[in-house]
Amino acid sequence: MTAMRVGFIGLGRMGTGMAANLVKAGHQVTVYNRSPDKAAALTELGATVARTVAEACGGEAVVTMLADDHALESVVFGDGGILSSLPPGALHVSCSTVSVALSRRLTQAHTGRGQQFVAAPVFGRPDAAAAAKLFVVAGGAEDAIERSRPLFDAMGQRTFVMSNQPEAANLVKLSGNFLIAAVIESLGEAMALVGKGGVDPHAYLDMLTSTLFSAPVYRTYGDLIANRRFEPAGFAAPLGYKDISLGLAAGGDLRVPLPLASLLRDRFLTLLASGGETLDWSAIGQLAARDAGE
Ligand SMILES: NC(=O)c1ccc[n+]([C@@H]2O[C@H](COP(=O)([O-])OP(=O)(O)OC[C@H]3O[C@@H](n4cnc5c(N)ncnc54)[C@H](OP(=O)(O)O)[C@@H]3O)[C@@H](O)[C@H]2O)c1
Repeated sequence: MTAMRVGFIGLGRMGTGMAANLVKAGHQVTVYNRSPDKAAALTELGATVARTVAEACGGEAVVTMLADDHALESVVFGDGGILSSLPPGALHVSCSTVSVALSRRLTQAHTGRGQQFVAAPVFGRPDAAAAAKLFVVAGGAEDAIERSRPLFDAMGQRTFVMSNQPEAANLVKLSGNFLIAAVIESLGEAMALVGKGGVDPHAYLDMLTSTLFSAPVYRTYGDLIANRRFEPAGFAAPLGYKDISLGLAAGGDLRVPLPLASLLRDRFLTLLASGGETLDWSAIGQLAARDAGE
């Protein structure tokens, strides 16, 4: 393993575990978070804490794991941001789920500064991030992807290279979250139906996941819906709304109608409008039961 000097920006639910795994793998990690308190636990593992974004940009690479387009834009393009602080030749690995349009803009901006940009959004919730079991979906120039490999290997269980265009990785990630949300909605409807008909949800899920629906997505989200366990959020509902909206925006740009995604966007709006801001995104799976008076 090649040890790298790497900055890590964004110590939220996902970033905390990912940064810790970079340290544990032997990389020299400097962490930065907007709210500084979240960095403290990582110093015990051996990370250095940066007081500014610029201080986290002194190495060969910087990884970002921020909430959304707005957060990533401000950290990259703001005063003392990544773009003006990262040395020429260094790498920005963006793991956040952001828009295709922003990924394209970042590719151009970093190239203009002689820096490299890789989009590497991930599948897996905070428990997978903490266990280094994420699936990394990567896009970028071949040599930039190769340089990023030691980082991917420390944070995930497998990396899928989608394209030499970073934005393609973001498109794939958005399509994946659309599919997960569709599963959550359809599971919620099916479980509302059998539940109101008197079937035990756990017995129902056991049957489903032992037969035709044995994929992890049915197990994970079926369990959350059956137990009505939407707090604390692993993936917060506003971020789910963001991802469906970004998928629809990409569909608009590419002239691809996504009627089911439009429906899901409204499901998220219903959830957010009715007190769901702090819940896990799987709480849309409870709306069907609510509509059924359960
Ligand atoms: N949670 C999941 O299951 C999951 C799975 C795969 C991908 N993702 C994606 O991973 C990304 C992070 O998700 P998360 O669940 O870790 O989110 P989170 O817990 O809400 O953390 C968000 C991070 O972004 C920072 N941030 C937000 N707005 C900012 C701003 N304007 N300027 C600077 N920093 C800002 C936060 O800093 P503060 O601490 O100061 O608020 C925090 O470090 C998102 O793009 C999400 O869609 C999440």
